[in-house]
Amino acid sequence: MISNSQPSVGHDWPAADELRFDAGVRLRTDHLFGRLADVIPEAEWPLHAPLIDAINRLKAERNAVILAHNYMTPEIFHCVGDATGDSLKLAQLVAQADADVIVQAGVHFMAETAKILSPEKTVLIPDLRAGCSLAASINGADVRRIRRAYPDYPIVTYVNTSAEVKAESDICCTSSNAVQVVEAAARQWGTDTVVMIPDEYLAKNVASQTDIRILTWKGACEVHERFTADEIEQLRKEHPDAMIITHPECPSDVLKAADFAGSTGAMAAFVRDHSPKTAILITECSMSDNVSVENPGTRFIRPCNLCPHMKRITLAGVYESLRLLQFEVTVDADVADRARRSVQAMLDLPLPGKPPAFDTRRPVAAADYVTV
Ligand code: 13P
Ligand code: SF4
Repeated sequence: MISNSQPSVGHDWPAADELRFDAGVRLRTDHLFGRLADVIPEAEWPLHAPLIDAINRLKAERNAVILAHNYMTPEIFHCVGDATGDSLKLAQLVAQADADVIVQAGVHFMAETAKILSPEKTVLIPDLRAGCSLAASINGADVRRIRRAYPDYPIVTYVNTSAEVKAESDICCTSSNAVQVVEAAARQWGTDTVVMIPDEYLAKNVASQTDIRILTWKGACEVHERFTADEIEQLRKEHPDAMIITHPECPSDVLKAADFAGSTGAMAAFVRDHSPKTAILITECSMSDNVSVENPGTRFIRPCNLCPHMKRITLAGVYESLRLLQFEVTVDADVADRARRSVQAMLDLPLPGKPPAFDTRRPVAAADYVTV
């Protein structure tokens, strides 16, 4: 159970740019800098520390919890996040959060998922522009057209979508459980074909792990689609001892060239479990910073791509979000009820305790596109 419950102290809080790095702040935050000294320059700490200190005190006053995705910068992820992890873990934890207010340090679809699962709580996102190229690639009308064209197949929807898209789907999945969800949906519907939207790369990578035929949509993550197999081969030549660890939103030939593929949670667990001497995480840039803090014995090579949406979330934004209770994320009640069925169907599936990996040795498989 995550909780920061404390009685309200009810005093006014200064704006973010009025907070100062004084002796009290230094005393209360020095232990955090000690952990992050390898990933945050000392000269930057006086800018972060007053915000970290104020956020941690203010969230107690607001009875708030902060959900921080693995792609948050380390000062957010390690210093103010109450629940941290990949999309599946955050969705699981939000259901248990004993709080009045949830601040989503992540992107908009994650905040919507939090609201869908906790409709009675106030869900805030520090910047409403924190979107996602996958969520922007498809809307509810597209899914209704797919349903009309393929009425006999279940529609499995990646959580990186709007509430409206989830509401039109049968079940959601994340990169942590995609193969298991596709196989469960096929079993339940008694079909050998599943529609899996909107990430064409995740769909193709799932197709390589299962005998189920997959129909997909032409959506992509703008961060992961840019990695290439040539880049991986080049890294392999330059760092022959490194473990190359990638995310299933990457093209299939990138996974094939890597040693391991899985959700961001699975990537972090792989480093923790194997303690490689050198690791290369083929994903968003903050991931290596966050994982390196917990794995000081591993050297990280960082050929990363930034997610411009995740990077809209800053410490100052998190603080102002809590101070001014902005920006509230709401979901129409009927849409939320229907979307909850798809998310809950995913959460109800029995899944292994440890996030499963994609077998990168399997041949690259095809997935066809839906035609609507
Ligand atoms: P996971 O953290 O679920 O692997 O998702 C990665 C991602 O790109 C989220 O936007
Ligand atoms: Fe979307 Fe990709 Fe950014 Fe994740 S990393 S929020 S999938 S654009």
